[in-house]
Order: sequence, then C-alpha cells, then structure tokens
Amino acid sequence: MKLYTALIAASVGAAAAQDTASTAAAAASTAAAVSGTESSGNSGGSSESSSSPSVYLHGSGTTNPSKCFWHILDKLEEQIKIPARLTYRAVGSGAGISEFLGKDIPKDSGINDFKAHNDWGSGDIPIDAEDRTTWNDNGIEFVQLPFVLSAVSFFHSIPGVPNGQGGLNMTACLLARIFDGDIKTWDHDDIAEINPGLDVPQDYPIFVGRRVLGSSSTYSITNYLYAQCPRGLDNPKGWPVDKVGSEIIWDESTNECDGSGPMTDCLVENPGAIGYIDSAHGHEEELTEIAISNGDGVFLTAKDAGVEGIQAAATDLSDAPDSADGDFSSLAFYNKPGATTWPITLVSYVYIRKDLSFIDTAARRQLLKAFATSLFDPEYIGMCDRYGLIPVPDELKQLSLDGIGLIDVNDPDDTYAWSFEVDTIPGAGQSDYIISQKRESFTLYEVDRIADDVVDLKEQVRLLQLELASMRVSVAESSAGFFKPTAAFVLSAIVAILFVN
Ligand SMILES: *[C@@H]1O[C@H](CO)[C@@H](O)[C@H](O)[C@H]1NC(C)=O
Repeated sequence: MKLYTALIAASVGAAAAQDTASTAAAAASTAAAVSGTESSGNSGGSSESSSSPSVYLHGSGTTNPSKCFWHILDKLEEQIKIPARLTYRAVGSGAGISEFLGKDIPKDSGINDFKAHNDWGSGDIPIDAEDRTTWNDNGIEFVQLPFVLSAVSFFHSIPGVPNGQGGLNMTACLLARIFDGDIKTWDHDDIAEINPGLDVPQDYPIFVGRRVLGSSSTYSITNYLYAQCPRGLDNPKGWPVDKVGSEIIWDESTNECDGSGPMTDCLVENPGAIGYIDSAHGHEEELTEIAISNGDGVFLTAKDAGVEGIQAAATDLSDAPDSADGDFSSLAFYNKPGATTWPITLVSYVYIRKDLSFIDTAARRQLLKAFATSLFDPEYIGMCDRYGLIPVPDELKQLSLDGIGLIDVNDPDDTYAWSFEVDTIPGAGQSDYIISQKRESFTLYEVDRIADDVVDLKEQVRLLQLELASMRVSVAESSAGFFKPTAAFVLSAIVAILFVN
C-alpha cells in the first residue's frame, strides 16, 4: 500500500515536472512540431524527441523466473503508450551473468570484454565475489536485487506411499547416502527407522534421478545436504564439500534426468524413483513429495511449509551486504532455523549496472529503473504467484529498493522518469512516459481471465472428485449388504420384461 501511495505521488510530481520541460521543449523546437512528430506532452528537448520516441530493453538469464519476467514485461509493454519492446531470453544463470558482465565472451575464449551484452541480467545465484572485485577494479559497479524466492523439493514414486499423512520421511544424511550411492534399496534399515509405515519388497531398488548440466536446483539441494549433513572425520557418509555446486560429479549409480520435464518423466516412468525439482513444478505435476528434515529437525514438505515457511528462511540477513552493490556471495537460505521453515529456499536476483551510460537514451535508462521498481510492487510481482515465485520478505525488499536508488540513469532533471498511473491522472496520464494501469490489451486481459477461470475450474473438479469418491465409498458400503437382492430384483425385472414381450 505504501508503495502505491508513493508511486501515485511520484506520478503527479513527475508529470508536473515533465509538463514544464515540454513547454520549454516546444518553445525551443518548433521544427519538431512542424515535421509532425507524435511526441506530445512530456517529450523532452533532447535529440530523443526529434522523432517518434520508442523504447526497448533486453534482459537474459535464469530460466526459473522466466515466465514471471515475460508476464511482467508484456504487462508493461501494453501499459506504455509509445512503442515499447521488452524481452527476456531464458538462457540460464551462468549465461545471464556472462552477458551482463561481459565475461568469457566469446564463450570459452577466456576473454573478458567487460561490455554489457544485455541491458540487465538475472540469476538464481549471487555473482561470484572474485568476479565482483575484478569488475569493480575495472570501474564497473553493479547492484544485485534479490526479488523472488522459490522452493526446491525431493519427490519419489514408490507405489502406494501417499502425499501428506503417512508420506515418506528423509533426513539430509539419508538423502546424502542415497544420492552418493551408499544406500541402494528402499528396504534399508536406516530408511525403515524413520519410516515405520513403509512396506516395500525386499531389495526394492532406488532409481536415483539427478540433473546433468548446471542447474540451480542441483546447486540448492547440494547446499542443503552439505549444510545439514557435511562429510567429516566424524561423519564419513555425509555430503562431501566437493559435490556442492550447480554442476557436480555424481556417483555412477545415479541416472541422468536433465531439465524439469525429464525429471518429472523419470519419476513418473520409474516406480521407486527419487529426484528433486522446484516445488511448484512438482506440485503442479502432482508428484509425491518427501517430508525432509529442516534446520530444527522437523520433517515437512514444501506444501506444509507454504509461503510463510519459505519466506521465513529469508529473514536472517546476517550474511547479506549492507547495500545492494555489496557482495552477496555468502548469502544463502539453506537449513535455516524455525519449526516451519523450509530448508531449501532459493533467491533469484536481477543484476543492473550502476552506470547505465552504455544504454543509449535516457528514456530507456529510466525505463530499466521503472521495471526494477515494478518487481517490488504487488501489482506486478503478484502476477508471479502462479509460477510458484514468492516475493522476498520486507527487509530484503528494502535492500533492493535502496539498491535501485544507486542506479545512475544520467538524466539530471528526471525528464524521462517513468511514472505509474494507478488512479486516473486526467491529462498527464496520456503522456509518453507514463506506465498506465488504465491501459490494457485485450489479449492479456483475456489470458488472465481464462487463467483465473482454469484455477477455479480445477478447484471445482477437485471438490467434485472428492464428492464422487465419498459417494463411491457409500455406494460400495450399502451395496455390500444389498447387492444380491438388488441383482435378483434387476434379473427378475428383465425376465418379466422378456415374458411380456
Ligand atoms: C513419516 O513420519 C511420520 C511422523 O513420524 C509418520 O506418521 C509417518 O508414518 C512416516 N512415514 C512412513 C512412510 O512411515
């Protein structure tokens, strides 16, 4: 709410400033008006207004929040009056960081050109401390803005073992032994110890599914295994430190299931499999989740933990820098304390250079700032719920918002500052640099409406299925007593009909 009020205030203020600027511009340049440009209202006096203004921005990086970006960018495009093209390439955190920093480009050349190859980058991992220092030493500073959280979970496909009550339980130490090839069958005594209800055939094999290429889910589960159950002299079967990362050398007994889709297939097609995937995806695919032990030793699923349990993991900021241009490399949310805290919580960042002079117009530089701001506005980031992405808790949000303030857009009078029209601003709402929530496109409107309807319908189907199941149970119960007389009755009725004919 506070943010909204601030935005409305900013809109009105900026609109007033822009009107003044445009008056000056109109007086200075009648030529532009004569040549029939469309620039009206708040186009400034620079070269940017000498032709019809348009804007574009292109980001790249992690696949995990890509749908969220596409949704928000489409929304912004439709809310902006002037031609706007805002794109995002889902290429993975590593490629996003390389393009953002100008690191090792061309790929594997070992050459850093330090040029930005995207306007902004995104990743599920903080930028390496060493890289940050190198780039700072070369005069390039940047902010990292943590903007959403997501959860990663373990799932299994042992037939007959349910989700929820009576579901499978695992500690990080058991998972470490399974994923490192020490425990190979589901009937192992150490598994039975915390799963008294597990009834599996003797020597029932475990099919271990794992990712192949660099993946943020591999990164997060290996961090969790190591945080809760590190290998050491006193714990020789714990998770080894050299197997912590986004791409590791796995035990050869494990199976390659690369990508979220293939991981789902591995679980569905191989009874007795275990794997890991981002929780929202797993829930959507109706996979069976494993209850894992969290930092307090409590067993829970990401479903049990919910939004609060996932956000609870990201409240301890003792390892975070004071400012968004600082070093985030030791900030991690694994195995954090709290009875209902989810132990594998991933944070996604947007990376923006502090000096945006490589972006050619002030309108684009300012738009990048407005886009960054929208990632912390419930009106926009709220659209990402449906992709299982959870807004960062307040303290992290403030760190990011302060970080946006560090970006230099090189537009001294904020002539091209974008503002959001939330409540109708008559007149000024029609200006070029207004992102108007009053302006929509039918396509996105209709897609949102249909998506909402589908959610409602799914819920109704679920309730109907439950009702049907309970009706079946009661029919089965009653027919247990009455089946024979009923069948006899039907038979005699048929016989009677035959005779009549
Ligand atoms: C997992 O632990 C819970 C709580 O102790 C228990 O109710 C459940 O039966 C266990 N699961 C299995 C498969 O035994």
